[in-house]
Amino acid sequence: MNSNYFSEILKISNPYLKEEFSKEQIESLLLKTEILNNLIDNKEIIRKWTDIYTDFVKNEYQNEYENTDEKLIDYLNEKDGIKIIWGNCLDVLKGMKSESIHLMITSPPYYNAREYSQWKNINDYLDDMRMVIREAYRVLDNHRVFVFNVGDIFDNDNVKTTSVWGKRRIPLGAYFTKIFEEEGWTFVDDFIWDKGEVQSERHKNGDKPYPFYQYPMNCYEHIFVFHKHRDDKTKFPCPVCGTLKVNGNAYSEIGLKSWECKNLECFERSPANRGKRFSLKTIMTQGRQNDVFSIDNDFIKKWRKDIVKINPVIKINNKGENVLGHTAPFPFEIPEFAIKMFSYPNEFVLDPFAGSFTSVIAAKKLGRIGIGIELNKKMFREAGIKNIYNNFSGIFDDSQIKLSEFDFSGENK
Ligand SMILES: C[S@@+](CC[C@H](N)C(=O)[O-])C[C@H]1O[C@@H](n2cnc3c(N)ncnc32)[C@H](O)[C@@H]1O
Repeated sequence: MNSNYFSEILKISNPYLKEEFSKEQIESLLLKTEILNNLIDNKEIIRKWTDIYTDFVKNEYQNEYENTDEKLIDYLNEKDGIKIIWGNCLDVLKGMKSESIHLMITSPPYYNAREYSQWKNINDYLDDMRMVIREAYRVLDNHRVFVFNVGDIFDNDNVKTTSVWGKRRIPLGAYFTKIFEEEGWTFVDDFIWDKGEVQSERHKNGDKPYPFYQYPMNCYEHIFVFHKHRDDKTKFPCPVCGTLKVNGNAYSEIGLKSWECKNLECFERSPANRGKRFSLKTIMTQGRQNDVFSIDNDFIKKWRKDIVKINPVIKINNKGENVLGHTAPFPFEIPEFAIKMFSYPNEFVLDPFAGSFTSVIAAKKLGRIGIGIELNKKMFREAGIKNIYNNFSGIFDDSQIKLSEFDFSGENK
């Protein structure tokens, strides 16, 4: 009979709990652990206690932020279906709970192109994007990633007077990387999306085979992966013995602490009597690996390379009509990559600049809950919703898609 093992955990962990949390906080934590008293399996006790404790720490962190919007939270609480939110993503993100999303994927609005351009110059645009990136950092769960697709455009930045070259290459990928890093994210990877097309014939000496007729062109884009590692001073239970008697002793990766168990009674000690070493990443992500979440080999092979060829989306049919109702969708393969590589089934996947909702469609197809925020309800609603339903014809009937909408710009706000 091991039903007392939890009291052992508590006895060893008590000094730390008292040091770190108030009496009320500890009481509310203990209330949640009552179910552990009836368990007899040590491993189950350790696992459940770790879940309860981790949830508790996360809630404490969420409580530090007070601007959440209750209606929006209620809407997002339901873990099912496809969720479409109409509104400005900065406002919507501000209304969301901290660390409540498991993966973000997006392609931001183009600067100075398309129907939604509104910026005086490149700096204005990047300032707006920075605000969204900052808020996204708060809303994304710790140790998770933001997959961010952007191209280095060929345009006029409206900051300097036009150069002798006329329009120029604007290295948006570099500018965005700097912003992400300044806002606390860690740059992890940059996949180059080879679009397999030369988007204009004006460039590269085309009809003028003379010196100085070389101009830049847009035939690739970046698919960035940025990690969030909020430096968390809280101790987490040793995954082997469940006690909080652990010491931070090294950084295993940038911004990511690792810990060593100091409980001499821990079930796993090295021959030199050292405790098990682990990191938050190990507990929060790798600890959940399981055969049913495995990714197939062909897919892994394709994304093992840092340059990936994907055909751009064909949105104009042979009658010259835009069949998606949107001028800049990204291919399904981008959110598919992000979702398979960086999330688990039933988790929340958010695209703050959802456009024609490619990310939420991919999320639903892969068994996740997709949330898409889109500003332009007037322009994109009809075609956007139609596009979602079209994607599931023959797969799900309408009631299984469980599409719902929330208007954060008007009546619901
Ligand atoms: C490049 S498109 C995204 C396309 C999308 N990946 C797809 O596959 O259809 C960017 C989208 O962001 C939207 N947008 C621009 N500013 C926004 C904002 N502040 N909040 C939410 N959406 C915004 C634009 O209307 C546009 O649909």
